[in-house]
Parts: sequence; structure tokens; C-alpha cells
Amino acid sequence: MTRPVFPHVRLVAATAFAIAAALSALQTAQAAGAASDASGNTSVLADLPALGAAWRTENPYRGDARAVLAGEVLYRANCQRCHGEEASGRGPAPTLQLIGRFCRRVGDAGLKRRCLADADEHFRRSVLKGKVLLGVEHMPPWEGILPQEAVWALRSYVETRGRK
Ligand code: HEC
Repeated sequence: MTRPVFPHVRLVAATAFAIAAALSALQTAQAAGAASDASGNTSVLADLPALGAAWRTENPYRGDARAVLAGEVLYRANCQRCHGEEASGRGPAPTLQLIGRFCRRVGDAGLKRRCLADADEHFRRSVLKGKVLLGVEHMPPWEGILPQEAVWALRSYVETRGRK
């Protein structure tokens, strides 16, 4: 199977714009005191605990429903066109639902936590560095574009998709 090649210069500009649009939509809704926008997405990124500059190595928002909602807004604006609706992989890029999925079956609590932390680190690194293979940019790097809060909100959204 061949992977599509993306014209990355236009893409980075477009994605930076989409991020800015999503963040400013969140801020606008926040400023207006709105609970949700027209599509039903809640403006919650600003409600999440601020995380500071030092990057966490595991998702500090795991289990926080507000982070899932904020992640959904960001996901739809920036990731869905490649990774598909609900991170299903029905698009040119793979599913994100499986990252760390098997950790749920780990019985030992300490090991389970390590397993999830490894999955988080893989997610964080993939998002920040993007996917550049043999000089071809399959996914743009988001370092310097997405704040830490957004990355972990995205992780929270993605890891709760596809669950029964
Ligand atoms: C232009 C298309 C494109 C966009 C936009 C995009 N990605 Fe990707 N992403 C890809 C491709 C293609 C891969 C697989 C690259 C590979 O396997 O080498 C990938 C891989 C990943 C991986 C690693 C998957 C794994 O199983 O190891 C993660 C995590 C990821 N993307 C998250 C995101 C998030 C979060 C966003 C939105 C902020 C995003 N991506 C936006 C194309 C994209």
C-alpha cells in the first residue's frame, strides 16, 4: 500500500491556521461565557488545569471529561481530515484508537501505569515531531503550535474513542 504524499508547506500553513481558528473559537466562546458552540462542542480548554512549560511524560488529564471535550474540538479542526472521524483511521492516516489500548488488559496496577505512560510518550512525541520519513512529511510537527494542554486534551479524546 502506498501512502499519500502531502504538500507540506501549504499544509503547515493550513494547520497552523486551523489551530489558531480552533483556539480563538474556544477563547471567543469562553469570553462570551457560552457553555457550548453551535455544533455542541464545549469551550473547555481554558477550564483545564494549566500545566506550565515543563512537559509531562504522561497524560495528566486522564479521566477528565472536560479534557475529552476540548480534545474533540481540536481533533476535528486539526487531525480528523487525515486520521478519520473518531480517530478511526478511515482516512489517509492510521487509527489512533489503538495506542495504549492493550494496557487496559494489564492486571498489575504499577505495570498498567507504566504501560499507559509509554503510550502517552509515544503519542506526545509523534504529535510534537510529526512524521517525516525520507524527507517526506506525512504528518506535520506540532511543536511550538500546540500547547501542552492541547496535546493532552487530544490524547484524552483519542484514547476514549472506539470504546464499548
Ligand atoms: C496531513 C495528515 C495528518 C494530519 C493533519 C495529522 N496526522 Fe497524525 N499521522 C499522519 C500519518 C500519515 C501518520 C503515520 C505515519 C507513519 O506511520 O509513519 C500519522 C501518525 C500519527 C501518530 C502515530 C500513530 C501510531 O500508531 O504510532 C499519532 C499519535 C498522530 N499521528 C497524531 C495526530 C494528531 C493528534 C493530529 C492532530 C493534531 C494529527 N496526527 C494530524 C498524518 C496526519
